[in-house]
Amino acid sequence: MIIANWKCNGSKQMISTWFAEFTEKYASKEGSYIGIAPPMIYLEYVKRIIAENSLEIKLGTQDLDASNGARTGAISAEMILDCECNFSIVGHSERRQYFDEKNSTIKEKIHKLIDVATPILCVGETSEENKNNLTEEVISKQLEVLEGLNFQNKIVIAYEPVWAIGTGMTPSKEEINEIHKFIKDVVQSSSINSLRPRVLYGGSVNEENCENFFKSEFVDGALIGGASLDGSSFAKIVTSFNGSYK
Ligand code: 13P
Repeated sequence: MIIANWKCNGSKQMISTWFAEFTEKYASKEGSYIGIAPPMIYLEYVKRIIAENSLEIKLGTQDLDASNGARTGAISAEMILDCECNFSIVGHSERRQYFDEKNSTIKEKIHKLIDVATPILCVGETSEENKNNLTEEVISKQLEVLEGLNFQNKIVIAYEPVWAIGTGMTPSKEEINEIHKFIKDVVQSSSINSLRPRVLYGGSVNEENCENFFKSEFVDGALIGGASLDGSSFAKIVTSFNGSYK
């Protein structure tokens, strides 16, 4: 599973160029899950280009709101379903940092979303927390938002160390593998139906380093920011994933 998180980037022009470059390099593989979370205002535009090119790419949102009605600027879980989005990112560290999102809000969002689309819950420690060996403690706390959910097969966790996002730094592949196993174990043991979730890695993934991560036993794919803004780079990452697809 490879997901592009375009964040607040792009324009119609960029998106047209992106698809021209992506389709030139992309070799599809049955069963692999490729998704794009564009800025919401471009969802329909991206959807149209995907349909015109008969591409097997799922669409998702970068966030949602737990309520609807008088919530200026927000979108609801019902709208995500209505627009045939397949997934939504929830609890990205940028939402936590710049929009002051707390675990309690993230929990409400996931509980709303779970019935309509796949939540991709982002967890990860800051540099400070990493230095103080608090990674597992922080992640366990962040995973508590899943309590009480019957999430069947749908839930996906993205491990995104805050210090690795957009910095060019990453944990080693051994460290990533270890944390992914930890996340799977924690979710499985707290899940009522013993579900072992897919876990994606996010943070400075690019076409050069991705293969290294994809070979790891507990890495089920990637959530990609910067490198996903280039259609050709993203196609290369997807191709690399498809080559090591388990
Ligand atoms: P970068 O790939 O730019 O480090 O961003 C990762 C990310 O935040 C994806 O959600």
